[in-house]
Amino acid sequence: MVVASAPGKLVLFGEHAVVYGYPCIVTAVNRRMYVEVETNGTDVFHMDAPDVGLYAYSKTIADLGGEGLPKGVRFVEEVYRRFLDAHPQKQGINVVTRSEFSADYGFGSSSAVTVAFARALTELYKVPMSEDELFELCYESVLKVQGVGSGFDIAAAIWGGTIYFIHSPRLIERIEVKTLPLVVGYTGVKADTPTLVRMVAHRMSQKKELTIGIMEQISQITQRARVALEASDWKMLGGLMVDNHALLKKLGVSSDELERLVEAVFKVGYGAKLSGAGGGDCMIGVGKDMEAMKQGIEMAGGKVLPVELQAEGVRLE
Ligand code: MEV
Repeated sequence: MVVASAPGKLVLFGEHAVVYGYPCIVTAVNRRMYVEVETNGTDVFHMDAPDVGLYAYSKTIADLGGEGLPKGVRFVEEVYRRFLDAHPQKQGINVVTRSEFSADYGFGSSSAVTVAFARALTELYKVPMSEDELFELCYESVLKVQGVGSGFDIAAAIWGGTIYFIHSPRLIERIEVKTLPLVVGYTGVKADTPTLVRMVAHRMSQKKELTIGIMEQISQITQRARVALEASDWKMLGGLMVDNHALLKKLGVSSDELERLVEAVFKVGYGAKLSGAGGGDCMIGVGKDMEAMKQGIEMAGGKVLPVELQAEGVRLE
């Protein structure tokens, strides 16, 4: 049996703009998805994902893929189908997944399970892959299932740490950040990333110049945020969060809940912003007084998520 795990992620800067070729900064969180795989001596793919209510899912490996698959299996099945197309095998597998975090937080459970599963497969069938090849396999699979996405979440799940990411031409650079003392607040509202990405795409088609202008400003903020992170300049980072958040608000992806939490942290800290697609999920903030920021989040109706950042990328357990 092989067990692999991969971390979730939090976007620090550049969400949405990254879909249009601008940079983003992402950090891996210390909540992981674990995937166990073993060959089963039959031609069947069998999967249990109790965290998402998927039990005893099974089909023959010749029938992998197709439309209308249950949510919990779509990414894994697509990776497996692609993997077998390139590296045919006679024996099927049993798969069990276990999550350390709720799929609701927007920590990227789909990309984490995709990466952990792909890594486990390459080990189980002894098909070595470079990290770049792993990225391609996972990114193509996620894109097939989800239709949209820049792939930064897959990069975070593979390489871990804090990453400066550009979708195309692809650039994945580790940023050396000594500490990352951020607060993370959860709004309690689950956001749907593909819907929000499509909403911004619609905006782009309607108000192209204005939207590109916003993306370019976000890109400049992201580049300055890299400098602030490398210098551990938290005041500067907070100011950049405020600016980035204002631009995301202009794009129309904030929500009442996010506004309440961001405002509460900004009052007592250096700055705050939504993190991810928007519409709900999480926000991040930075400041001197951690306790005051955490209290602010709770008083505003949010939940403080005690995560450590810059976690290790995919690994065999
Ligand atoms: C979602 O966490 C971040 C987006 O930029 C989408 C993506 O890059 O895949 C909105």
